[in-house]
Amino acid sequence: MRLKRSLPNLLLIAFTIIVSGLAIADITPERQAELIYLLRHDCGSCHGMRLEGGLGPALKPERFRHWSTETLAMTILYGRSGTPMPPWGPFITEPEALWLAGQLKKGIQP
Ligand code: HEC
Repeated sequence: MRLKRSLPNLLLIAFTIIVSGLAIADITPERQAELIYLLRHDCGSCHGMRLEGGLGPALKPERFRHWSTETLAMTILYGRSGTPMPPWGPFITEPEALWLAGQLKKGIQP
């Protein structure tokens, strides 16, 4: 009974994951370059040009090994209220935040 009820939710979750996966694939190489530029310059102004830390902590793959891509993307989109970490939602879309989170987890070359 319970399984039957949750089936539509599971389907919805699976659908959302597939759609966001497709959306990530839709980010053009030009936009990817812009996002990396944003990461180096805007994020870098607080997290260090090499993302090794500054006003904000280092953004290194070791730190994010146990973070899900979604959690990392949400931190980027919504920021951390009460700290200088601003929300980036006004500037980048959710698929773009997921893509950036994936890059941070892999580690971008300085
Ligand atoms: C104005 C300064 C500032 C800018 C610009 C900024 N951040 Fe931050 N960020 C911070 C601070 C400060 C923290 C630590 C917040 C806290 O005390 O929890 C933080 C925390 C984070 C965290 C959580 C790190 C952890 O180890 O818990 C992530 C992820 C992050 N920032 C990503 C980004 C990304 C990606 C960008 C660019 C799109 C960015 N930040 C731009 C100041 C900034």
